[in-house]
Amino acid sequence: MKQLIAANWKMHKTWEESIQTAREIVVGTYNQLPANREVLIIPSFPHLKAVSDVLAKQKNYFLGAQNLYPALKGAFTGEVSPAQLLDVGCSYVLVGHSERRHVLQEQDEFLAQKASFALEQGLKVIFCIGETIEQRQQGRTKEVLRSQLELGLKDVQKVDSEDLVIAYEPVWAIGTGQVAQEQDILDAHAFIREFLQKTFSGAEEVRILYGGSVKPANASSILALDNVDGVLVGGASLTAESFNQIILA
Ligand code: 13P
Repeated sequence: MKQLIAANWKMHKTWEESIQTAREIVVGTYNQLPANREVLIIPSFPHLKAVSDVLAKQKNYFLGAQNLYPALKGAFTGEVSPAQLLDVGCSYVLVGHSERRHVLQEQDEFLAQKASFALEQGLKVIFCIGETIEQRQQGRTKEVLRSQLELGLKDVQKVDSEDLVIAYEPVWAIGTGQVAQEQDILDAHAFIREFLQKTFSGAEEVRILYGGSVKPANASSILALDNVDGVLVGGASLTAESFNQIILA
């Protein structure tokens, strides 16, 4: 199983900046990419095709989208279908990112529809979960993670383990500079692995990423932890200078 080093660019960058950064990432890491790593870039929708062209034919470099709508096609103004994402070269899609849950108010039921539909249509899904600071302080972290997994993956009956990725992103660690303690990451990831083992066959092969204030300075120690199969990086993925250090950490 290869570690996945993923850049979530959120609603950042111009067209030119997306192309330029993607190029710098490939050029700066291609020859040194560790054999057990894959790189994923997740730009905003308008830049998918341009970044796809940069990544085309680059072995171990993949394109992902930040969202999808769970329907084949039709009258869904402003939405994007899995087929459209596959058509521009996406292999992955994020579902349930904290900002979709908390800013856009997406609920478990809708996220469950997105996850199962995207998988059915041939996209790999990075299903994101994580507790808020209040939930952690109330000692409810595991309860919240279990509920997000149970409700969000309830329609995923049978999955090729390579196609499902879980990202543990504690809400309080996203964009705050406050990375989770190593023990917190170990505990959460072990809990997620146990849930997956009870739920899916081949769960050993489902990758579990950590996200939340990952930076060049903490990447290698996080990536060395048990059950950490990659990282999902926001702020520190916006420049090749810092993201390349994480890829090669
Ligand atoms: P930061 O790396 O900026 O904390 O963002 C994490 C994240 O939300 C990645 O999806």
